[in-house]
Amino acid sequence: MRVLAIDTSCDDTAAAVILNGRRILSNIISSQNPIHQKYGGVVPELASRRHIEDIVLIVNEALEAAQVQLKEIDGIAVTQGPGLIGSLLVGLSFAKSLSFAAGIPLVGVNHIEGHLSAIFLEEKPPRFPFVGLVVSGGHTSLFRVNGFGDYRRLGQTRDDAAGEAFDKVAKLLRLGYPGGPIIDELSKTGDPKAIRFPRPSLSKNSFDFSFSGLKTAVVNFVKVSPEPVGGYPQELVRNIVSSFQEAVVEVLVKKTLRAAEHQELRRIVLSGGVAANSCLRQRMEEEALQQKRKVYIPPPEFCTDNAAMIGVVGYEYLKRGIRSPYSMNAFSTLDI
Ligand code: KG4
Ligand code: ZN
Repeated sequence: MRVLAIDTSCDDTAAAVILNGRRILSNIISSQNPIHQKYGGVVPELASRRHIEDIVLIVNEALEAAQVQLKEIDGIAVTQGPGLIGSLLVGLSFAKSLSFAAGIPLVGVNHIEGHLSAIFLEEKPPRFPFVGLVVSGGHTSLFRVNGFGDYRRLGQTRDDAAGEAFDKVAKLLRLGYPGGPIIDELSKTGDPKAIRFPRPSLSKNSFDFSFSGLKTAVVNFVKVSPEPVGGYPQELVRNIVSSFQEAVVEVLVKKTLRAAEHQELRRIVLSGGVAANSCLRQRMEEEALQQKRKVYIPPPEFCTDNAAMIGVVGYEYLKRGIRSPYSMNAFSTLDI
């Protein structure tokens, strides 16, 4: 079964063709970073306008790169939510029209379920059940994953998402957007122990997260030392971001391992843009190994937004005969 998958949940226009839910025939992403960079974050109105301009080109490019024609496509999978409503509506309306015009079955996919399923594009994916951590710009959630469509949320952030905290700290220090990859790189030459930022852990028995206090601690730290003419010294900036990243990683690793222990699960899957973070990847693997648990993380380009992961989920549902009606709507928040 060849599935054409489309994701326009945020600021990337993405389309992919996936064979039997596992093999990537094409995976095209048009990043809007240059548009949003100067605002230090995604501007929803600009994002949806750009999706409208790009969607036909990107879908055509995905079909061409896969060397398949539209008539060889057996199903269309499209992200229905969560995400920016204007952005989602572009992909969803396009997918509905294409499905109707070409007579191809359509299924709506949850973006978070997509992130959790990106790992099935790997050669050796994990068996169910596993603990899944989704850490992106909009979400920080821990799940027990029993199978496709069978999820139990163990915890989530009560305020900012981890990626959002990375982006806000980078904006504060005027490092650029998106902040995650920039902080990841700068931190490699900083001292993670230079500043002891708080590790917001909430109660011991909770698998919820909170990152706004940590973000405020960084803001307060920076405010105390006013910016000198010519900007903050590079070494100080590297130490701030490195110490901030250290705090985020420590909390994510600790909670995820505790959840695995609590659920008596040996397998852990990381997903979402922040799972591209080199420090998080390394630390999670090291500490899980000490507890004889195995961590599965997609390559960085499949942690951040892409349509291939939507194709994995779409295939699973289409295979079971599940179809979405043309009355399907987009939702900015959507549970899995
Ligand atoms: O999954 P994603 O591409 O989009 C959402 O669904 O939100 O995640 C984007 C988020 C951004 O906040 C970005 O700063 C963060 O992932 N991110 C990273 C890294 N790469 C992307 N955060 C930390 N380290 C990275 N290497
Ligand atoms: Zn995402």
